[in-house]
Amino acid sequence: MRATFTGWGKCVPPTKLTNADLEQLVDTDDDWIVERTGIHERRISHVETTDLAEVAAHRALAAAGLEPADIDMLIMATVTPEITCPSNACVLQERLGAVNAAAFDLNAACSGWIYGTATAASMITGGVAERVLLVGAEKLHWVMDYWDRSTCILFGDGAGAAVLEPSQAGDGVIGTDLGADGVSGRTMVFPTLGTRGRLSSVLDPFQHRLHFDGQAVFKIAVQGIEKSVRRAVDRAGLSLGDVDAVIPHQANERIITAASRRLGLDPDRVMVNIATHGNSAAASVPMALTDALDSGLIQPGAVVVQTAFGGGVTWGSTVTRWGERVTPLGTSDAALVDCDETVFDLLAPNRDFYAPLHAHSPAD
Ligand SMILES: CC(C)(COP(=O)(O)OP(=O)(O)OC[C@H]1O[C@@H](n2cnc3c(N)ncnc32)[C@H](O)[C@@H]1OP(=O)(O)O)[C@@H](O)C(=O)NCCC(=O)NCCS
Repeated sequence: MRATFTGWGKCVPPTKLTNADLEQLVDTDDDWIVERTGIHERRISHVETTDLAEVAAHRALAAAGLEPADIDMLIMATVTPEITCPSNACVLQERLGAVNAAAFDLNAACSGWIYGTATAASMITGGVAERVLLVGAEKLHWVMDYWDRSTCILFGDGAGAAVLEPSQAGDGVIGTDLGADGVSGRTMVFPTLGTRGRLSSVLDPFQHRLHFDGQAVFKIAVQGIEKSVRRAVDRAGLSLGDVDAVIPHQANERIITAASRRLGLDPDRVMVNIATHGNSAAASVPMALTDALDSGLIQPGAVVVQTAFGGGVTWGSTVTRWGERVTPLGTSDAALVDCDETVFDLLAPNRDFYAPLHAHSPAD
């Protein structure tokens, strides 16, 4: 018995942060950002991580033809939970009314969706759960220093979700590779989302901001994706030529292009939506998966590779033989509340909070 994807959906908040907007905040320009990252705009959320997750979850459940009470396991992958206890998954469980679901958060940073898929599939094949709702949701702008051009251009907010259920027909997850390298972990750190340091460091802007070595992460990512995809495809008993669609983590278009080239993958088979979404960590792959289904990249019976790398550092890939259904069974009218603020209004708290770090160089 295998675990297969039966529903999918995403939620992007309405407010765009364009490269032109960023030009007003930091010393950058559209050409640099597009050439180095492929990003034109990203979304900034006016609501909490749970709100994004809730809408994506309703859409995925409707696509699977299920009600929240049908779910018996809810896994939420995130590095920006709204709260750590109760877990964000439990907050979401209450919000959805998924009263029959066990619920927990999973943190593997940008690889969270892949770790979550592996966990969900194992729960199903191991007989622990039957219908798993997996959500990847992030409000990354909350930890972003919008004076720091080296990080703030990259990330955006959003959520994606999927339902996994048992399959008897041979479709489902057929190969998985997961890995981590804690030694390289200091290349990407959110210091104050944990107990490290003094209590007062929670309010210390230097401790709070993302610490990040972009070039180191870039190299780790390209090599990591290549090796991980090869291992997962091998474990599925397939070769790279059998792969019909690749859904990579959207961190940088150059990373996707370089890794695809090393793998010899036809760019037409690779889903890229980074131009409009930026890097949304654990939400990135499920949002790209939903776009791949909506755009027809994934056809019935397709061999689909999902792959990611991220903080930890962590990496992972899954290979799924997609089922016969590539269209939703139903749709949901769930939607976010309207936003009446500009993107600059939404970013003002971050600008104020981090301003002391940049008193002598307003745009570093
Ligand atoms: C962050 C990243 C885009 C930087 O691209 P890069 O080509 O490595 O650029 P560099 O860091 O070498 O910077 C080159 C120059 O551009 C400057 N620069 C950095 N950010 C800039 C910006 N937003 N606008 C304009 N110039 C910028 C740097 O200061 C540097 O100037 P210098 O040569 O005068 O010192 C890239 O390293 C990356 O995408 N890394 C992976 C990041 C990631 O996705 N992490 C999350 C993984 S889940």
